[in-house]
Amino acid sequence: MNSVGIGILGLGTVGRGVYRVLQKNRELIAARLGTPLEVVKILVRDTGKERGITLLPELLTTDPAAVLEDPGVSIVVEVMGGIEPARRYVLEALSHGKSVVTANKDLMAVCGQELFAGAAATGADLFFEASVAGGIPVVKILKEALAGNRILEVIGIINGTTNYILSKMSDEGADFDTVLREAQERGYAEADPASDIEGLDAARKIAILASIAFNTRVMLDDVYVEGITKIRPEDIKYARELGYVIKLLGIARETPGGIEVRVHPALVRCGHPLAAVSDVFNAVFTRGDAVGETMFYGRGAGELPTASAVVGDIIAAARNIRCNARRILGCTCFERKPVRPITAIESCYYLRLRVIDRPGVLAGIAGAFGNNSVSLAAVIQKTTGVVAELVLVTHRVREANLRAAVEELRCLPTVETVANIIRVEE
Ligand SMILES: NC(=O)c1ccc[n+]([C@@H]2O[C@H](COP(=O)([O-])OP(=O)(O)OC[C@H]3O[C@@H](n4cnc5c(N)ncnc54)[C@H](OP(=O)(O)O)[C@@H]3O)[C@@H](O)[C@H]2O)c1
Repeated sequence: MNSVGIGILGLGTVGRGVYRVLQKNRELIAARLGTPLEVVKILVRDTGKERGITLLPELLTTDPAAVLEDPGVSIVVEVMGGIEPARRYVLEALSHGKSVVTANKDLMAVCGQELFAGAAATGADLFFEASVAGGIPVVKILKEALAGNRILEVIGIINGTTNYILSKMSDEGADFDTVLREAQERGYAEADPASDIEGLDAARKIAILASIAFNTRVMLDDVYVEGITKIRPEDIKYARELGYVIKLLGIARETPGGIEVRVHPALVRCGHPLAAVSDVFNAVFTRGDAVGETMFYGRGAGELPTASAVVGDIIAAARNIRCNARRILGCTCFERKPVRPITAIESCYYLRLRVIDRPGVLAGIAGAFGNNSVSLAAVIQKTTGVVAELVLVTHRVREANLRAAVEELRCLPTVETVANIIRVEE
């Protein structure tokens, strides 16, 4: 049996996991594939670094050409991260006809089209399962298992850090900054957590999922993004009182006016399967016109869960090489669909206001909503001395109307502040 040669770019968290899985399950993978997989070279920055794994020193190189130009390497695995030089290396590997497996959501969300063109030029495969939701094989599910469906919506909890923070805030009533510090100490949040807590990481992933689900290229700039930094313990408490939990959701939905692609915190009804996804776990909920609702749950990051997705892709790429059947699953963005602006979406909304506690206040607030065709589904009022906290949930309304109503509210002398506005996913 001729082995299939693998070159790995990067030997950090994911690279190490990939190497470990390939070694540990070597015989099983060879039996399933009908041929062994052989790691031929691994590119790193520093060959002398302690990496916590046993491997032959001659496997390591700091020379990209030793991976990209080696005829013995048939599959290049990019697990170094970032855009450059990863983009150049992937394009070079594809130009040599090597199949590429990447875990890099930044690269796929920003340069996906260019990379797919590179793959098409030489007929090589480009797989990227681990770039979304780590160990959950949702890319293959959407591209293959659900390919008979028109996908109506994809809703995901696709950032483990923010799900951990919101779960902790909910379980312990702690505030955002305290939980973030604890998440950093436990290694669940980066030293610079901006990409996670501002929603950018989830935005990259939902851009990738929306592109696959709706067969149209969704760029990062198309995604409306709000993070979780404005969520306060009182929002979580009021949400619970109303029968909801707060989650950071990536939402991609096809509507007659175009597609909606957004990331923001949302109130999710307690009985919904996504409401039960806590801690660092991820989940992707989909609705197809044939299958109806499905949900996929698992670990969205970490050495071995991410390696599981990468190695699955390596095996698929190796199988295609063996069967001479590459490029069966290339780029699936064959349509051009408009992306609706956030002001055109329809949703229910949770609002928390601080108002002067005196007679007639509610009438003024109801007037501002009525003037903009916003109707209310629930109201909670808590009085603390002269100021009252007013929590409102609207019926479904266009976001433009809600924003106009909020502008009117802000001008009312009885409204001290509009403390928070959060969309409600019913
Ligand atoms: N970590 C996760 O749980 C996870 C989950 C899903 C997807 N991903 C994605 O997987 C990719 C890798 O993440 P990671 O957490 O494994 O990163 P990491 O721990 O920082 O490892 C990066 C590796 O790439 C090497 N590297 C970086 N730049 C290089 C360069 N210019 N030349 C040569 N080698 C270079 C580094 O070499 P040295 O070791 O010598 O510095 C290191 O071994 C990223 O795209 C990430 O978004 C990660």
